[in-house]
Amino acid sequence: MKRGGTDEQKRAAGESAADTVSDGIVVGLGTGSTTAYAIRELGRRVDAGLDIEGIPTSYQSRQLAREIGIPLTTLDDARPEVAIDGADQVAGGTLIKGGGAAHAREKLVDAAADRLLVVVDPTKEADVLDHPVPVEVLPDARRTVADAVADLGGDPQLRAAERKDGPVVTDNGNLVLDCDFGEIGDPATLASDLSALPGVLEHGLFVDLADEIHCGTADGVRVTR
Ligand code: 5RP
Repeated sequence: MKRGGTDEQKRAAGESAADTVSDGIVVGLGTGSTTAYAIRELGRRVDAGLDIEGIPTSYQSRQLAREIGIPLTTLDDARPEVAIDGADQVAGGTLIKGGGAAHAREKLVDAAADRLLVVVDPTKEADVLDHPVPVEVLPDARRTVADAVADLGGDPQLRAAERKDGPVVTDNGNLVLDCDFGEIGDPATLASDLSALPGVLEHGLFVDLADEIHCGTADGVRVTR
């Protein structure tokens, strides 16, 4: 299900966004392989004297930031001026996220930031979103939400863990339904329909949230928005 460009494209995108970060600010640290390149570049810049604090969006990004020495804070104590995050698909400023099942905390941090810089490779770009939408649900709501998603025209699949039997469990102790709606003509309406379902903690539609898209290509980084 995950789309993927080359490591070089991901590295170029991540480093391009990290290089825009200025001294003295708080940075939201997204999740995923492309964002990891941005976090590592920020770590190198911190080693060289850059003064920032990071707010991680997952266990994975928190561990990486700690390993490379980025000082951390939380939304209780600070607001991010910038967040850097990946995406599974992007059309205009709207994203589908949650390939790493971290979209609930990602949306919290990305929406709190003054500016969201999205780091992708060309396989993530689309004219119309059609990637399945990850929906994080309370375990008890798995069946009721799946039925409601079907009523909305979607095909929900419980996300299975890759390396062991059983489902993926999020950092918040919940399950993920990957919901295929085909082409999503009206992301804002689908987003509010999904948010309204009892038992949905968060879904992966980030409507009109991106301020800059850094897309790593064979010919360098294209920055749009
Ligand atoms: C995690 C995400 C990721 O940002 C998204 O899946 C992209 O990951 P990658 O850069 O590894 O392709 O939304 O929840």
